Amino acid sequence: MILDAEETDGPLIETIVTGAGAFSEEEVDALGAVWAEFLDLGAEDSGYDFLVERDGGVVLGFVCYGSRELTDGVFDLLSVAVDAAALRQGIGRRLLRAGEGEAQDAGARMVMAETSGTARHLGVRGLLQSAGYEVEATIKDFYCVGDDLHVFVKRF
Ligand SMILES: CC(C)(COP(=O)(O)OP(=O)(O)OC[C@H]1O[C@@H](n2cnc3c(N)ncnc32)[C@H](O)[C@@H]1OP(=O)(O)O)[C@@H](O)C(=O)NCCC(=O)NCCS
Repeated sequence: MILDAEETDGPLIETIVTGAGAFSEEEVDALGAVWAEFLDLGAEDSGYDFLVERDGGVVLGFVCYGSRELTDGVFDLLSVAVDAAALRQGIGRRLLRAGEGEAQDAGARMVMAETSGTARHLGVRGLLQSAGYEVEATIKDFYCVGDDLHVFVKRF
């Protein structure tokens, strides 16, 4: 069941992120900072929101998105990850849809996801493509030489 994240979900989300193997240490830290701001200020004032897939007391995945500053109706999909033991069961797709729904309710006309072109991020690129996102921009050697930035967009 997909629900709003609660404060006690923090360690469970961190376990999923570190277990996913797709996030660098810097990315884990950056997400931790977003989570801390979300807890501190709440969804409205922080601009970020987290949803979790909860099965009893267990969190099997999460999605984090937020409105993009200086735009009208653009939302960022900041992060999505699923427990490594629960992959390919449709959880990622359900989380993405739920996040898109919440973003649309908050006035989104498009959702944007920035991701790397490396093998580490194959799963999320597959997920985005299967959910109707299209690559609208690629910046070569963005993260480092040999690691391109792909900007995926879905318009409503
Ligand atoms: C990306 C991720 C969230 C997908 O979660 P998931 O629950 O396994 O995805 P789903 O089961 O909902 O898959 C939906 C569709 O996405 C695509 N997909 C999912 N994983 C894929 C993979 N590894 N390779 C290619 N396509 C993939 C498929 O089209 C899939 O449909 P199918 O299973 O019918 O073929 C998961 O692989 C993950 O947590 N990865 C590590 C974290 C990460 O990279 N996050 C992005 C950085 S923010």
